[in-house]
Amino acid sequence: MTTIVETKNVSKRFGGLQANRDISVKVEEHCIYGLIGPNGAGKTTFLNCILGVHTPEEGSVWFEGNDITGFKPFKVAQLGIGRTFQIVKSMPQFTAAENVMIGGIFANRQNDHEARRNALDFLSYVNFPMPPETLAANLNTIQLKKLEMARALTAKCKVLVLDEVAAGLTPSELNDITKLILKIRDELGVTIIIVEHLMKLIMSVCDRIAVLYFGELLAEGEPKEIMRNKEVVSAYLGEEYIS
Ligand SMILES: Nc1ncnc2c1ncn2[C@@H]1O[C@H](COP(=O)(O)OP(=O)(O)OP(=O)(O)O)[C@@H](O)[C@H]1O
Ligand SMILES: [Mg+2]
Repeated sequence: MTTIVETKNVSKRFGGLQANRDISVKVEEHCIYGLIGPNGAGKTTFLNCILGVHTPEEGSVWFEGNDITGFKPFKVAQLGIGRTFQIVKSMPQFTAAENVMIGGIFANRQNDHEARRNALDFLSYVNFPMPPETLAANLNTIQLKKLEMARALTAKCKVLVLDEVAAGLTPSELNDITKLILKIRDELGVTIIIVEHLMKLIMSVCDRIAVLYFGELLAEGEPKEIMRNKEVVSAYLGEEYIS
């Protein structure tokens, strides 16, 4: 197995608040890597340290064996780490296709023609249910999440970082997004790092899981090890998870 993303002793503070402390993880290529933990545990901060939104005060971030600590977000995207946002970000005055094209143009240096073709292909790949010319302002949550996934895929990302992609979805939408996550990994070979509160989704797709608690890595392992870990159960999952 080859490590594609690695963090070594990453720490990030906001003033007096230690949002991430000494977090070291290794994400293997082609795996689905889950990140869980209570609200405010530091999950989004940690993703943002990987994505270049934050530069950790201590520690380093590695991608394909290269130190990318301190790289700007657009550079990280160009290298091949794509993302969706916990609070979806699109340009409402532009169409779905135009929003997705941005990924190809800015993160993958495609010309307009190539970016449009890729955008239409990937909108169809994620089963985007609306016409590509629909204004983003008229899209609902799952449609916007699919738009963000298509945008990252259009940029030919090797790693896709999903921050709470399933929040607020109906059971059938959840089923749809679960299948899509597996398809992206299985067919496109994209490595996936996923932050999620929905344990049903995490347990059904993840190869490994890291648990953050008050900014620290509480546990890391295969889903069944995590389910059995008493500290994780009492800190996060709740007693009903003890088998
Ligand atoms: N830009 C920021 N400036 C100041 N504090 C921040 C900032 N971003 C996050 N924090 C704080 O850092 C801590 C970790 O936040 P973070 O958003 O990483 O948690 P999270 O695990 O993603 O939570 P959630 O499950 O609610 O999304 C929280 O106490 C939060 O208030
Ligand atoms: Mg978060």
